Amino acid sequence: MTESTPLNQGGATASANSTSDEPTPIAGSSSKGGRRGVPVYTPVESGRVAREVDSGGAGPLGDAATPKEAQAALPTGGTSAGEGSDVVDALNVSRETADDAFAGITEDDESPLAREMIETERKRRALEATDFPRPKKTRIITVTNQKGGVGKTTTSVNLAAALASRGANVLVIDSDPQGNASTALGVPHHAGTPSIYDVLLDDEPISKVAQRCPDIDTLWCVPATIDLAGADIELVSVVRREFRLHTAIHELLKGAGKNLDYIFIDCPPSLGLLTLNAMVVSNEVLIPIQCEYYALEGLTQLIKTVDMVKKHLNPEIHVSTIVLTMFDARTNLAREVASEVRSHFPEQTLEQTIPRSVRVSEAPSFAQTVMTYDPHSTGAVAYLAAAKDIAERGQTASDPGGQL
Ligand SMILES: Nc1ncnc2c1ncn2[C@@H]1O[C@H](COP(=O)(O)OP(=O)(O)OP(=O)(O)O)[C@@H](O)[C@H]1O
Ligand SMILES: [Mg+2]
Repeated sequence: MTESTPLNQGGATASANSTSDEPTPIAGSSSKGGRRGVPVYTPVESGRVAREVDSGGAGPLGDAATPKEAQAALPTGGTSAGEGSDVVDALNVSRETADDAFAGITEDDESPLAREMIETERKRRALEATDFPRPKKTRIITVTNQKGGVGKTTTSVNLAAALASRGANVLVIDSDPQGNASTALGVPHHAGTPSIYDVLLDDEPISKVAQRCPDIDTLWCVPATIDLAGADIELVSVVRREFRLHTAIHELLKGAGKNLDYIFIDCPPSLGLLTLNAMVVSNEVLIPIQCEYYALEGLTQLIKTVDMVKKHLNPEIHVSTIVLTMFDARTNLAREVASEVRSHFPEQTLEQTIPRSVRVSEAPSFAQTVMTYDPHSTGAVAYLAAAKDIAERGQTASDPGGQL
């Protein structure tokens, strides 16, 4: 699976500007200057600009004239410990050293923030230097948890971006009427945009509605619009209602999508027909779990649902991965929840946890994943490491890829 362009250029609104046969990983996106000509965010530059701008100015969604101005105007005060840009900023790094994340920081620096930043940067460089194995067959991964706000969308888009940034061909299917994954990937999803609704209800081919993401050449997204809000009910009367997505993905993989390495399906916070459609076509289920008190409630129901699907609709499906999100190692509760999850799912739970990170939560307001918004941040490096684990597990798992 070394060929590029798994999806053709026939998307209704997308792909017009991206016809290269050679996919360029994330590095390429910085050279092309990012979306709308905005240079890819670098912590040092942002930190410096932020000092010159009144932090009471336009916020992420404020009325700044351009995204760059909006980025520049981001208040920095709320950034958490370990976020690269603030640390560099605090250490007063000069503009000439903007590309060197270690600039101005020495190994014996007293500051724990500086030490954490060095550690994060070291890890990022090591990850950048390693190859991520690509699966032999397309891996189709349902990202689900009926509990809301646990990081399903954030995990889907950032893992997808991390894998695509390392050369994989990746499709994200936004199967949530909220359309959050479409927002984070920077693809239009206003009412009337060809979307997953047309695929599920009107037999539209996925290749016709998929859009190439502006920041990463090997990343595509099938957007969700508000139309999808009624789909759970509309699907009830449709023939083979649980197999609508299955049929569409089979078609895709026979043609335009035959070189796809990964398909992530971002589900809504429910176990209705949208989630069922995703599970019926997937080989794997990825469950993000937020490390807090109610985390494990509802998990039994979710596992039962996966078992039911396995028994009656899709014998291939299994829970392959659990990702602990918004993890704060300083709290006992987070550590206890994490160890509880690991004791129940020792093989599925990734060693790498995703820390709570201001950069991760800011990124969607700039229609970006954190992988392009701030690749040096702790959140981006954690998602890159998690993506590597997932890629490597795919090589060794007994049930690795999609059988489509
Ligand atoms: N690692 C993180 N650090 C900080 N904020 C995060 C992190 N992960 C997710 N968030 C924030 O938490 C909120 C919920 O995340 P997200 O939308 O990914 O959850 P979800 O499970 O997809 O929600 P829903 O159930 O509504 O679909 C968002 O505001 C997101 O920005
Ligand atoms: Mg979501």
